[in-house]
Amino acid sequence: MKPANEILSIVNQALADMPFDRQPIRLYEPVKYVLSLGGKRIRPVLMLMAYGLYRDELETILPTALGIETYHNYTLLHDDVMDKADVRRGKPTVHKVWDENTAILSGDSMLVLAYQLMSQTDDKHLRAVLELFTETALEIGEGQQYDLDFESRMDVREEEYIEMIRLKTSVLLACALKIGAIQADAPTADADLLYRFGESLGLAFQLQDDLLDVYGDAKTFGKRIGGDILENKKTFMLINALRLANDSQRAELERWLAAPPTQEKITAVTALYDAIGIRALAEQKINDYFDLAFTCLDRVALPSERKQPLRDFALSLMGREN
Ligand code: IPE
Ligand code: IPE
Ligand code: MG
Ligand code: MG
Ligand code: MG
Repeated sequence: MKPANEILSIVNQALADMPFDRQPIRLYEPVKYVLSLGGKRIRPVLMLMAYGLYRDELETILPTALGIETYHNYTLLHDDVMDKADVRRGKPTVHKVWDENTAILSGDSMLVLAYQLMSQTDDKHLRAVLELFTETALEIGEGQQYDLDFESRMDVREEEYIEMIRLKTSVLLACALKIGAIQADAPTADADLLYRFGESLGLAFQLQDDLLDVYGDAKTFGKRIGGDILENKKTFMLINALRLANDSQRAELERWLAAPPTQEKITAVTALYDAIGIRALAEQKINDYFDLAFTCLDRVALPSERKQPLRDFALSLMGREN
């Protein structure tokens, strides 16, 4: 199987070659804009790597891989409106360059384009692929709704947070892997293990995203540091900070949660996280989910050399900074 960096080049080339020759330009310009800003492309890479565990001609499923990346980018357009995020991939977000109506409508069109690409799956696998993709897309909406609901709640439990990130993030990684496996006619047991690998990987991935949102470097992360703090997002870190704080720390945290979104709020909440020791706790949780992911990959019934590129790719995500 090809290593991840070669697969990434194939994906990036295919994305750059997507035509967008429809009118009006005003609708498609933002689509081209967001797809041209880079991004890690982990979902299409995971899909192609899962397929590559069983078959070599990756080009066969390229439209499906482009479909999942287009879908992911659609979620980002709407997510940035919902999260009031001004920067993504180091560039102004679509609703900042244009406006919110643009982010809504171009986003909607990207969702349709994603379905158009997914529908290019060959007839033999089309039904299974569309069923899984559609169920996943519904789950992501559900996760995003919980994410928003939790902003105004103070009693969110860690289990609820984990289920929320499983829905908004993990299932798409899992779906990408399983769609690759389905199209390669992998044994059902393997396809299911790859799904579970993606689920745990996705939990680790979103926990990392939340950690980087506080402790990352804005330049490499490409997003505003502290964005989640401004929006009172109930992350693993905030939930555990509230749980482990002493009385005065909790009172201070609660005061900041009621305060308007300012840079001062980011600084103060981060200082409380530091004092409570939240970073190490989150890092431990991230490692636990990576371990769980690797356990699932180990159980996929293939020689370990065959799985090595996929394992290496997952390992490369462990210390990610963007
Ligand atoms: C961002 O996804 C949204 C999350 C699920 C955290 P990525 O971190 O994969 O974003 P890009 O595509 O690489 O920019
Ligand atoms: C995003 O979670 C999940 C989806 C886009 C479905 P976040 O809101 O944490 O993602 P970023 O940090 O904006 O990329
Ligand atoms: Mg969000
Ligand atoms: Mg966001
Ligand atoms: Mg985030």
